[in-house]
Amino acid sequence: MLGIIGAMDEEVQLLQGQMTKKKSAVHAGVTVISGKFKGVEIALAQSGIGKINATICTQMMIDLFKPGALIFSGVAGGLLPNMRAGDIIVASHVVEYDMDLTAFGRRHGETPGRDRLIECAPDLVAKATNAFDAAFDGKKDAPDLMLGTVASGDRFVQDKTMLRWLQREFAALATEMEGAAFGHTCHLNGLPFVVIRALSDSSGSSASGDFKNNLHRACQNSFHLMEKMIPLAAKERPRRERRKGTR
Ligand code: ADE
Repeated sequence: MLGIIGAMDEEVQLLQGQMTKKKSAVHAGVTVISGKFKGVEIALAQSGIGKINATICTQMMIDLFKPGALIFSGVAGGLLPNMRAGDIIVASHVVEYDMDLTAFGRRHGETPGRDRLIECAPDLVAKATNAFDAAFDGKKDAPDLMLGTVASGDRFVQDKTMLRWLQREFAALATEMEGAAFGHTCHLNGLPFVVIRALSDSSGSSASGDFKNNLHRACQNSFHLMEKMIPLAAKERPRRERRKGTR
């Protein structure tokens, strides 16, 4: 069983439309659709926006559906100048940028008992890049792919100073509002995870308008990648990659 989470309706709709043998249930206020996607057993949930919603949804999915691995997929704001709407970011790491214990001499994003940057499962990152190639190689207007850090916080970033800070402080490629909370929860449960995002905007002064205009296209791109990713992610993980406590 693979757990898949998106924050907004648009981010889960396309996957849900292609599922068969669907069953729907509501837990902790979150609707989870379980069934098959291209023959793979999945549980798909719409978490709602922000880190608290993402945390509750992820823990509920882990406890009730017992996934072997989890993927968060959706849209994000880009942080580098030459990025285009629709480009895909596969997170190698996620960071909770608004965790602030700097009063105690810690760096932004750092909290006791956890690395500042939370690493996504390397084999799922590799599978996501393979899925990208399978989905977009040779296609007209294909998006670009970038691997790197995704910075999460409870704020829609529409501010040049903030976006530059996220880039400088964390070497982040993109920002969104759930990935690090999801990743932290998976990490505490010893489960492999990855975050996959398509860019809807560039986090600057026009971000909210760009977000609305590009949301559909960005969701289509992340859906095309997920179509290829789900069968790959469901395949057996290499043994040496499994950590103690990992299912
Ligand atoms: N999701 C998509 N664009 C975003 C932005 N600019 N800030 C936070 N989350 C986002």
